[in-house]
Amino acid sequence: MSFPIAWLDLREPADHAARHSGLRGAAAALVGAGGLVVDLGCGTGSTVRALQPHLARSVRWRLVDHDAAVLREAGRRTGAETVLCELAREDPPIEGAALVTASALLDLVSEAWVERLADALKARRCPFYAALSYDGCLSFDPAHPGDPAMTAALNAHQRTDKEFGPALGPDGAEVLAAALRARGFEVRVEASPWRLGPGDAELVAALLPGIAAVAAGWDGLARSEVEDWLAFRQGRAADGQCLVGHVDLLATL
Ligand SMILES: C[S@@+](CC[C@H](N)C(=O)[O-])C[C@H]1O[C@@H](n2cnc3c(N)ncnc32)[C@H](O)[C@@H]1O
Repeated sequence: MSFPIAWLDLREPADHAARHSGLRGAAAALVGAGGLVVDLGCGTGSTVRALQPHLARSVRWRLVDHDAAVLREAGRRTGAETVLCELAREDPPIEGAALVTASALLDLVSEAWVERLADALKARRCPFYAALSYDGCLSFDPAHPGDPAMTAALNAHQRTDKEFGPALGPDGAEVLAAALRARGFEVRVEASPWRLGPGDAELVAALLPGIAAVAAGWDGLARSEVEDWLAFRQGRAADGQCLVGHVDLLATL
């Protein structure tokens, strides 16, 4: 699955504000001078911009994605090594890593993929830091009677195949945490929600049509219900509040 650069740019400030600062600091502390960090599903390099200020300047990055245009942009913005890789089919290129990272990726992947990643991390005794995995919680203020059904539709869509097999969606971080704990890792999971308010109106307005589009194709909802909900939500994008639940995970051996 690919994501437009404009969307990745729009969400980056909210992502950076939402990251759990304690886990971000603990992840950064695992990488010594000259160490290599491998970021899976790197997009345009948001994780580099979030983590590099907390790392030694000599730390090296290997950025991995299957979208050539996005990866080219990541290389241009960060100057890091880039690796074009279809993670759904190829082994993640994590050899030599002091830390493997990902952000906004775990909700796309399948249980089988998580098990393979956990095996690869264990074999290399490599720590893993995954930020901003959607956890299934979506809430708005003011509320609308259609909110629970729209959230249910979004979460059902989250579990559809995104090229890795049936997606874990909101369970991604939890399933990976269990897989890593079973292999002896110590795993910390912390909340990192987007708390969006009037200053985030552009991001909220961009989020809403995507939710409405998946809900419109969902059996439980009539088109008119979705349209009413979208009109109400767009009308409140500039003065309402929206919480999108995420979690950050740090696993060490
Ligand atoms: C939601 S975006 C997050 C990007 C970036 N980590 C960030 O936080 O801005 C998910 C990223 O995973 C990449 N991706 C999705 N499926 C992939 C796959 N099968 N193989 C490699 N990369 C993939 C997408 O191209 C995209 O850049």
